Amino acid sequence: MALSRCIFFLMVSCIAAIHLVTSDTCAPGTVTNLYLNGSGILTWDTDSSEECDISYYIVYVTLLNGSIQWTYTTEEAYAEVGHLEPCTGYSFRVHQVSTDNVTGTGWAIYSVTPPPSDADLALQSVNLTQDDRRVRLQWALDSQYARCARRYRVVVYNEDNDTPIDYYTTLTSLYVNNIVPCAHYTFAIRGLFTLEEEGPITVVQHTAAQYPAAIPSLASISADVSTVSFTWNLDDLDTNRCEMTELIFDGSISVSYPINDQENRTPLSLTLSTLRADTLYYLRVRVNNTAGLSDPFQLAFQTDES
Ligand SMILES: *[C@@H]1O[C@H](CO)[C@@H](O)[C@H](O)[C@H]1NC(C)=O
Ligand SMILES: *[C@@H]1O[C@H](CO)[C@@H](O)[C@H](O)[C@H]1NC(C)=O
Ligand SMILES: *[C@@H]1O[C@H](CO)[C@@H](O)[C@H](O)[C@H]1NC(C)=O
Ligand SMILES: *[C@@H]1O[C@H](CO)[C@@H](O)[C@H](O)[C@H]1NC(C)=O
Ligand SMILES: *[C@@H]1O[C@H](CO)[C@@H](O)[C@H](O)[C@H]1NC(C)=O
Repeated sequence: MALSRCIFFLMVSCIAAIHLVTSDTCAPGTVTNLYLNGSGILTWDTDSSEECDISYYIVYVTLLNGSIQWTYTTEEAYAEVGHLEPCTGYSFRVHQVSTDNVTGTGWAIYSVTPPPSDADLALQSVNLTQDDRRVRLQWALDSQYARCARRYRVVVYNEDNDTPIDYYTTLTSLYVNNIVPCAHYTFAIRGLFTLEEEGPITVVQHTAAQYPAAIPSLASISADVSTVSFTWNLDDLDTNRCEMTELIFDGSISVSYPINDQENRTPLSLTLSTLRADTLYYLRVRVNNTAGLSDPFQLAFQTDES
């Protein structure tokens, strides 16, 4: 009886001793919500389930190759990192230190430092050139901040048909294809920096270069003894906005028809009369617009016998 009581006592004191040791040095867990925001403030939280009392934090800032750039100890759950090189990728690692002086496991994020708050993020220049039906935009930021822009947003807005198209690019130039001739465009360009920050918008207006219309296409034709009636399909305004002036026929007959551009551009119905009976006609049909003549549509038809 005495022996077993003695063993029991030994066990209890043993457990008490273990308990004493563990509660003596509390090892903290990792921080949570580690985040570098657009003002260069690194913030984090102590998890609500953390069992240790935290006395301070240690922040290590390292380059990707591991070379330590900065260490910092703080009792607050944030650090101001505005003094680091802007627009540079760093690893930010934070450790909690308990009131028992035990340093917990670090938690790290990789993040790119934001440009300074007074940085001029407006584009320094935008050049626009048009070659055929393709516009090339090229732009530049102040060289000091050029690497800060993660990408650029370009909005191409065709004012005549009200369709904006968004482009995102990491380059500093953009080709826009299928520009509608004679249409009025607005190009708006801005740099995108961190998740939160966008630079000011630079706007360029451009009226697209003139371009001849496409070959007219024949929708229908009917001939009798002395007349021929056709319906023509011409470029619509969303394809070529250059003002069309006339439909020109040459070959067996030379004649031209004015086109009232904005209203009855397409389909265009017209009739040629005073033709000779039982005759084969050859015609070349072109559209004239402000850029000149289109390529010809080649047409042959026969009038009826009288
Ligand atoms: C960054 O965090 C600080 C402190 O929480 C705050 O004052 C500042 O407005 C934040 N900046 C941005 C861009 O969110
Ligand atoms: C890490 O990179 C930095 C800058 O790129 C350089 O100055 C430093 O010497 C490098 N450190 C190591 C350990 O390679
Ligand atoms: C923790 O370390 C500091 C100095 O490094 C010392 O003053 C303090 O007494 C230590 N606390 C404990 C609980 O060991
Ligand atoms: C725009 O053109 C000018 C003159 O040709 C040139 O000096 C400038 O570098 C160009 N800018 C860009 C962003 O290409
Ligand atoms: C085509 O139209 C233009 C005006 O837009 C005119 O100057 C030119 O003479 C016309 N060409 C022909 C072949 O009719």
